[in-house]
Amino acid sequence: MVEDVIRVIKERRSVREYISKPIPKEVLEDILDCGRLAPSARNLQPWLFVVITEKQTKEKIAKLALYGKFIADAGACISVFCERDARHLVEDGCAATQNMLIAAKAYGIDSCWVAGYERPYSEDIRKLLGVPEKYKLISLISLGYSDKTVTKAKKTLDEVVRWEKY
Ligand SMILES: Cc1cc2nc3c(=O)[nH]c(=O)nc-3n(C[C@H](O)[C@H](O)[C@H](O)COP(=O)(O)O)c2cc1C
Repeated sequence: MVEDVIRVIKERRSVREYISKPIPKEVLEDILDCGRLAPSARNLQPWLFVVITEKQTKEKIAKLALYGKFIADAGACISVFCERDARHLVEDGCAATQNMLIAAKAYGIDSCWVAGYERPYSEDIRKLLGVPEKYKLISLISLGYSDKTVTKAKKTLDEVVRWEKY
């Protein structure tokens, strides 16, 4: 179990090409449930997740999101919003986002985090989805089954860790 969690975290990579295989609704619901259970400042849970599976809407979002064209081909896209009045809306929304990336990977579903916070298109996406003004877009998550393997150069532990002091 511990090994599984660690392996999933270590194996997750951003994948931007998907095969056309739908994601079962109950799997999406469980991924969303993992987002719901993320930590948030003062346990405010200021998030709102809007799930998009309809092709037309995915295509509209893909057109708007500057570096998210692949959303059009994803099985689903989860848009993560947080209440704009929450003091830690960005951290809270990012915690929920990361939980969902990991949960998806555990289900064998690949993903990519697409920037959503204070982008030129953030408000357009909120309006497109009919989300009330009290929310701000934090991120978009593309989800899909993929046959691609992505490798990515990562810094070594030595490069990024200091013990006790710098
Ligand atoms: C805040 C944030 C915004 C990102 N925005 C985009 C994006 O708009 N488009 C995209 O293709 N990838 C985006 N990414 C994914 C990163 O490019 C990716 O995480 C990074 O290259 C490391 O690769 P890995 O996820 O495979 O470890 C974003 C990631 C984060 C954390």
